[in-house]
Amino acid sequence: MLVYPERLRLANLPTPLEPLTRFPLNNSDARIWVKHDETTGTEFSGNKVRKLEFSFAEAKAQGCNTVITCGGIQSNHCRATAVLGARLGLKVHLILRGEKPEMAEGNLLMDYLAGATISYLPQREWRTHPEFAGQLQQDYASKGDKALFIPIGASDEIGLWGYVAACEELQQDFARLDLQPDYIVCATGSGGTQGGLTVGSQLFDLPGQVVAFNVSDDAEYFDTKIREDVTLWKQRYNVDYKLDKLQVKTIEGYLGPGYGVAEPPVFEIIAKAARTEGLFLDPVYTGKAFYGLVSELEKGDAGALPGARNVVFIHTGGLFSVFPQQANFRFD
Ligand SMILES: Cc1ncc(COP(=O)(O)O)c(C=O)c1O
Repeated sequence: MLVYPERLRLANLPTPLEPLTRFPLNNSDARIWVKHDETTGTEFSGNKVRKLEFSFAEAKAQGCNTVITCGGIQSNHCRATAVLGARLGLKVHLILRGEKPEMAEGNLLMDYLAGATISYLPQREWRTHPEFAGQLQQDYASKGDKALFIPIGASDEIGLWGYVAACEELQQDFARLDLQPDYIVCATGSGGTQGGLTVGSQLFDLPGQVVAFNVSDDAEYFDTKIREDVTLWKQRYNVDYKLDKLQVKTIEGYLGPGYGVAEPPVFEIIAKAARTEGLFLDPVYTGKAFYGLVSELEKGDAGALPGARNVVFIHTGGLFSVFPQQANFRFD
């Protein structure tokens, strides 16, 4: 039996799992079901809160009064951490990649509103962010504080639990809906969602293969990263899981020009999902993954998702990053 570590109940769970009914697919009669993890909370919405339930429990267990984490200027993970810190009465220090913008908008605005302390590290120095975080931990310690460093995206052996636990929820969803999906699909950025789903789907014997669309890096990176996280997770929590069963499946081809930068079809599909279903996606994560999903489904059995009849798309949130990119939407 799977023994979970300490967990704080922070997310609004279970999230709904519902089919899309009007979004048009060409040459495919596949049905897309959406697991609405964008509804895990109003301000800390998205996939990160599932992981942070375990990361913040760890911070409390270690007697920390501060958490330090890092990400891009518009990081959803940093925003969720800042908001949860404010809710729980913990100090939050964010290390953000890039220069301080003139105006704080989207997630960054929320970071400031939630009272986070923010340090900016230029792109050329980003490699050194773990050392920078270590220095901050020492600075906090010298003032009598104790700070836990949560790595980017809370994607480590602790945060992995978030989507392992989500698979238990999906197991109940599938039983209730009598659903046997062929694929479970998500966006992957720091690997924790994909890793948790990949392992959890095996532990809970879920139907359907877990596949992820990368919005940064490449398939090889995610294979290595997830193997490392799962190895540490197995060791740390003494989980009965055979590492040779791990199969990480990443579909490349939808990253576009790079992380955080999307081409017009992504903005078009975001608008189409909003118009036809009232479903809001974002240009950094879910919009790219959904664009990849629809494109592959429309290729039929020649695509990367052969035999897809029912597909579960994990909506991982990210709405606030729509606003800083609003100039890319075109309305006639
Ligand atoms: C909205 C959204 N979707 C998907 C992801 C990807 O999740 P992960 O970092 O676990 O790969 C992230 C974070 O990186 C995110 O903010």
